[in-house]
Amino acid sequence: MSTNGIRNFRPELHYTPESNWINDPNGLVYENGNYHLFAQYNPDAAHWGPMHWAHAVSRDLIHWQHLPIALYPDELGTIFSGSAVYDSKHTSGFGKDGKAPIVAVFTHHHHEEGTDHAQDYEQQSIAWSTDGVHFEKYEGNPVLPSRARDFRDPKVFRNTVKNCWGLVLAAGDRVHFYASKDLKNWEKTGEFGPEGNYSQGVWECPDLFPLEVNGETRWVLLVSMGRNEENHGARTQYFIGSFDGDTFTCDGRFTEPEFIDCGFDNYAGVTFDNASERILIGWGINWVYANESPTGEYCGDMTLPRTLSLVDTPKGGLRLAGASKADAFFGEGVACDGTLPGEVFKLTVTGEGPCTVALQNDAGQQFLFGVNEQNEAFIDRRAAGAKDFSEVFASDWYSVISAPRFYDGAWKLELTFDHSIAELFLDNGTRIFTQVVYPDTPYTAVTASGNAGILVHTLK
Ligand code: FRU
Repeated sequence: MSTNGIRNFRPELHYTPESNWINDPNGLVYENGNYHLFAQYNPDAAHWGPMHWAHAVSRDLIHWQHLPIALYPDELGTIFSGSAVYDSKHTSGFGKDGKAPIVAVFTHHHHEEGTDHAQDYEQQSIAWSTDGVHFEKYEGNPVLPSRARDFRDPKVFRNTVKNCWGLVLAAGDRVHFYASKDLKNWEKTGEFGPEGNYSQGVWECPDLFPLEVNGETRWVLLVSMGRNEENHGARTQYFIGSFDGDTFTCDGRFTEPEFIDCGFDNYAGVTFDNASERILIGWGINWVYANESPTGEYCGDMTLPRTLSLVDTPKGGLRLAGASKADAFFGEGVACDGTLPGEVFKLTVTGEGPCTVALQNDAGQQFLFGVNEQNEAFIDRRAAGAKDFSEVFASDWYSVISAPRFYDGAWKLELTFDHSIAELFLDNGTRIFTQVVYPDTPYTAVTASGNAGILVHTLK
């Protein structure tokens, strides 16, 4: 249980609930200057439980205002993950007095008390709001009835090929695609998987969206792979390919999974509907130890929002890259004198060849990252702070991670640190590592080996 807060680990730039448990980001949607963030939420405890949708809004994606719970469980079940769209063309008929609605599409998870979970089932339902705060559930729910156990996490997207709404959801070891004109009536159009599914089990929280690269449109499919013994924990895969309006086809062959983040603390990430850029937020911790994390009255955080793009790299071909939305909140970098300015900062480290950067505290703990002899980026939290709260968290598998660079020669590492979560962007975001760390005392010093220069940025 995360009721044993060791000290205040609450991040400032990353969204956290005021109290109790959150997991997946849900319903990410932009309308009229507001970014809406909903989250899987248990209002009664700092561990997973009956799911509601928490709700917050922001005008800049970094400062969030908490709003009342948007969706409560009802007779169809608890409220699992899903998405939201801004129905500006009034296709759903839920608009009122000329005001276009936000329409949320979510999973009703049904569990009968006293039965085992093998009998659970999941169906898709909708709700709408015209004031951006209060949501009303549709009387025709569920809009996608089912008795399947793993059939969830609907993500509505704009099907620009057929000029209608598209929906992708996780159906066991694959994803299904649907189309609709009005967000109420859905017709199945295709499937993708299980080829390419490295979860050895269920996929969760898919998303599908187009990105432009080299003058063409490619479609990117995200799928979060559920945790199991084989894959050692939950991470988010991505595929680049095409979408013909019905289904997604991946470019090339499946060799090994590509992850949107090499770290272990970015799961169930999805993107905003209706925003001018393709912006992703993920759950900033991992299922395999989240319930034990030592953060006290709250448990779970969101990653920094990041803008996604496709980049043609010299050694890795087309790759999904990310740029942190928090960058705009940090000032110009100044040459670092070896000390760190508090618990929120950004470091830009440039160099060539192997280099280890170490953040250190008075307790003799250190958090390491850099580039190794094999031209791989790495991050290492083995000695970074508290880890006894979870055997899994303390294991090497989850603590030291490396991934080959897609470039040779000079490199740039950008690390955003926020109390207990670090996001490392390498080579303009073509490799990203998100890892949580719980140092017993704040890191106060930084050193870098090898041929490197460190700039430190503080909040503006
Ligand atoms: C992913 C997930 C979803 C589900 C939700 C339940 O983290 O397992 O598939 O809808 O969490 O809270």
